[in-house]
Amino acid sequence: MPTDMLAPRMRGVRPSPTAEISDKARALAAAGHAVINLGEGELDFDTPVHVKEAGIEAIRRGETKYTAVAGTAALKAAIRAKLHTENGLLYEDAEIIAGAGAKQLIFNALLATVAAGDEVIVAAPYWVSYPDMVALAEGTVRVVPCREADGWTLRPDALEAAITPRTRWVVLNSPNNPTGAVMSRSDLQALADVLLRHPRVLVLADDIYEHTRHGPAFVTIAEVEPRLKSRTLTVNGVSKTYSMTGWRIGYAAGPAWLIAAMQTLQSQSTSNPSSISQAAAIAALEGGTAFMSEWLALLAERRDLLLAAIDRTPGLACSVPDGAFYAFVNCQGVIGRRTPAGETIRSDLDFAAYLLEEAHVAVIHGAAFGASPYVRIAYAVDLAILREACARIERACAKLMAAGTA
Ligand SMILES: Cc1ncc(COP(=O)(O)O)c(C=O)c1O
Repeated sequence: MPTDMLAPRMRGVRPSPTAEISDKARALAAAGHAVINLGEGELDFDTPVHVKEAGIEAIRRGETKYTAVAGTAALKAAIRAKLHTENGLLYEDAEIIAGAGAKQLIFNALLATVAAGDEVIVAAPYWVSYPDMVALAEGTVRVVPCREADGWTLRPDALEAAITPRTRWVVLNSPNNPTGAVMSRSDLQALADVLLRHPRVLVLADDIYEHTRHGPAFVTIAEVEPRLKSRTLTVNGVSKTYSMTGWRIGYAAGPAWLIAAMQTLQSQSTSNPSSISQAAAIAALEGGTAFMSEWLALLAERRDLLLAAIDRTPGLACSVPDGAFYAFVNCQGVIGRRTPAGETIRSDLDFAAYLLEEAHVAVIHGAAFGASPYVRIAYAVDLAILREACARIERACAKLMAAGTA
């Protein structure tokens, strides 16, 4: 490939590791292996029927043309109502934008505001895309490590120490991908107290897993500290809550100047998100979340099955994730162990590769999320499949223990 023809901004940008693992898993499956993919950040539930019907109806009504770049008036009204009733946040239409997924909106927000040398604070473990998006915007990521012993939450003193005159954003993500940690009101208030002392820092609240929780209440920082609302971008979407990853609808609410800049970027790149998906998203947002209790019960059952299996598996340990659908599993106990083929597991990447080759189970190495030695296991698959995956992981780890240390 003529890499000298690529723009300098492409240097250091990695392809999404989750997509990469999925490609490898697909290749193994195509070669005839029964691969179980626990790498994907996607629920196996079908999109609710009333949402699918709304999409079909939109096609029948002829809603198949361009819409306003930031979304139809009807979708904006549904987003406004959602943010008001569920999060106690009031926004005008000019403060709301819909896009092709939360991912596009986060990317556009960063691209619109981050200049070369500007810093973006990201707590680790982080969603894999934040650092690469910052890099594409030619900014600098300041990774602030969080500790499992602190429940994976960002400590206010660590946030304070990371802020410099070049800090443009701090990115918050709760419930968290990959740890499942959910920030409490007091966690957020402590961070807000720090941020109030730094009036030029913008706050990005990535709330995409808001409804995928097992217990703790959800709050978002603009609600906890209204004085931050004028510099907070609250990002959410229908991908996870309604199992609509393929429909590509996310939304963001924040100060009008920022939303206008994001809209300008969108108008010159992708234009409006799919008109059909917008109609479906309205049905999702207006149809309530009653169906979620069944999904959450299933997810809790899967989570508990996975945690019990991890507990039994030599070399692995995991704290209880309160949200999302991931377990962030400590694999320190297998580092330095030898595989039956005589290779040494030196890192979480080696361990993930071993699980894929030996057990045909795909998981994502912690280094991709900025924390080692861990692997992220998504429990977004059917209970029977998960049970089989757990048994395979257990057997593969037992083999490592039997083969001894390097
Ligand atoms: C933390 C986090 N934010 C944002 C997204 C993007 O979601 P969307 O499908 O709306 O682009 C994901 C998807 O995996 C995610 O894990």
